[in-house]
Amino acid sequence: MNIKEVISKLSIDEKLTLLTGKDTWNTVAIEEKGVPSICVSDGPHGLRKVCTNEKGQTFTKEAVCFPTASALSATWNTELAEKVGQAIGEECSANDVDIILGPGTNIKRTPLCGRNFEYFSEDPVLAGELSAAYIKGVQSTGVGTSLKHFSTNNQEYDRFHVNTEVDIRALREIYLKPFEIAVKKSKPTSVMCAYNRLNGIYCSENKFLLNDILREEWGFDGFVVSDWGAVHDRAKALKASLELEMPYSEKSFDALKQAYENGKITDEEIDSAVERFLNIVFRLYNNRNNRVKEYNPDGHHKLAKEIALEAITLLKNEDNILPIKKEKIKSIAVIGNYAKTPIIQGGGSAEVKPIKIDNAFDRIIELAGSDIEIKYSDLYAAWSHINSINNLSTALTFACDSDMAIIFVGSPFNYESEGYDRTSITLPPHIEDAILKIAAKNPNTVVVIQAGSAIDMSSWIDKVKGVVFAWFTGQAGGSAIAEILFGLSNPCGKIAETFPLKIEDTPSYATYPGNGYASWYAEGIMVGYRYYDTYNKDVLFPFGHGLSYTTFEYKDLTITPDTASEENEINVKFRIKNTGNMQGKEIVQLYVKDTHSKALRPDKELKAFCKIDLKPGEEKEVEFKLDKSAFAYFNTSFNDWHVESGRFKILIGSSSRDIRLKGNVYVKSNFDFS
Ligand code: BGC
Repeated sequence: MNIKEVISKLSIDEKLTLLTGKDTWNTVAIEEKGVPSICVSDGPHGLRKVCTNEKGQTFTKEAVCFPTASALSATWNTELAEKVGQAIGEECSANDVDIILGPGTNIKRTPLCGRNFEYFSEDPVLAGELSAAYIKGVQSTGVGTSLKHFSTNNQEYDRFHVNTEVDIRALREIYLKPFEIAVKKSKPTSVMCAYNRLNGIYCSENKFLLNDILREEWGFDGFVVSDWGAVHDRAKALKASLELEMPYSEKSFDALKQAYENGKITDEEIDSAVERFLNIVFRLYNNRNNRVKEYNPDGHHKLAKEIALEAITLLKNEDNILPIKKEKIKSIAVIGNYAKTPIIQGGGSAEVKPIKIDNAFDRIIELAGSDIEIKYSDLYAAWSHINSINNLSTALTFACDSDMAIIFVGSPFNYESEGYDRTSITLPPHIEDAILKIAAKNPNTVVVIQAGSAIDMSSWIDKVKGVVFAWFTGQAGGSAIAEILFGLSNPCGKIAETFPLKIEDTPSYATYPGNGYASWYAEGIMVGYRYYDTYNKDVLFPFGHGLSYTTFEYKDLTITPDTASEENEINVKFRIKNTGNMQGKEIVQLYVKDTHSKALRPDKELKAFCKIDLKPGEEKEVEFKLDKSAFAYFNTSFNDWHVESGRFKILIGSSSRDIRLKGNVYVKSNFDFS
């Protein structure tokens, strides 16, 4: 299909019609001229396909609900991100969906952001690598992706209008970086612009963002789609390189026609936008016949569980309270409704209708068998005060009479959601109070938390022995939690965002959510651990933290060459050994620290990571290759990445605050300024 030829046969009205949707989920077809329509649908942690029945009522089709992005990022496993992308691509194919609207790779600037469960990390490299892997997986099935929300949609509060004021260095190093990595590595078929303004201009009309950086600099060759209803001035958006306005907008055609007739947009601009759009439409349409139209829901449920098992993060394990020791523990009080009705995801456009849901309780009963007596009590029932009081007194009695208490708590359904932010990062006060009361009755108390983003646990954490952060782990998360508790699986997740002691400690606290017009990113590049580690602030749990039932030894670090020019590749090798007696996976993290710099640099920055699977006693070599990007910062005078000559520390850690190996490399810049 020669696209230029197709375009030459289209009238100006037909071309302008193509640049807005046909409806909420489909693009316009012009069949007589050979232009097909494609279908897009929400996700990204499963397919959310909205359909209409014969009576005209809308409903969401069932699909496998995988762990959400914040859980996927806790796996730090790019292979799993690719696998889940592939599985979701298969579900899209089977449901005639051509593009899944995801992944979302906005940086977690504040733990309050309601959509943090849909985003990967506070760190751009981790977010970028996971997004790239997910996109690769989806697109391997012939289905397209829409990387979103470009850019700086880091709060839901006032998201339609807020003006995010971000300095260029922070924009490049933190907020654009994950998009840059994903676009360059995996070439998403489309990018979705964000609702908000960036430095005064709506993202949908922001030529600097959509054209100069995305297209010209990064080589993006797909089309840009608006977030749903994000276009304010259609002609300006077209000129900025936004090809598709979604959903169908009555005003779009007239606005474009008027701008065309007034000479504000030219034939060339229209033709090139239509060409960029149709390139993808034809690519996706043409590969429809090659796509596999079936998928295996049980296989996908298993994959959802595999991811959940790698995501669930053991935050605290005093006296090795976990895994549950059958020889010692003869009775357990299981407390809290989420043991039976888990919270598997957050709310909003990402909400998937699951095919089935595992719950932790059923699996606990199976695993306890006849060896352990399980006594279950609800905790609070939101709808009844009296029931709640009764539940708590039953829970306390059971806790008192049992060898161990496991309390299931978390973010109530829709507490974390698109459209609004959390107002607090603590658990509700009555839940905190219940934890304290239960822990006072039973010294062997473990808390299991289902949530999509960091929780402040400071008022109760010292009173409990164990904390398992279960994230929103999708439809198979419940059974995965039980298997981690009983040690059928060794926890190997690590947090991809710092857990602060309290919200007041977070770097964006003073300026979030802004003044109703602007939100100033005054903390600049000091986001997440970059801030806490540079200024030596205490945190509840540092970035990259997560415990295991086994132990790992790191040794024999070598860095070659140890003196290099900025073009050289630096080879970092070390060995890691499982020194415990259970098979386990360790997430190893490589941070770079600029020891003497003329520019402000964070204490350390994550530049590489991987997950290593080791049997007891087994030892493996780990190798990372670093290029210039590991040492560079964005210099705003050069408007480019710049490496300064000098010594850089290579830090190999189990978390940002648990550095196990240190080495040096001297890098010589191509240009040093005085
Ligand atoms: C959300 C997008 C979503 C779109 C379509 C918007 O409100 O921000 O993430 O893909 O709606 O549902």
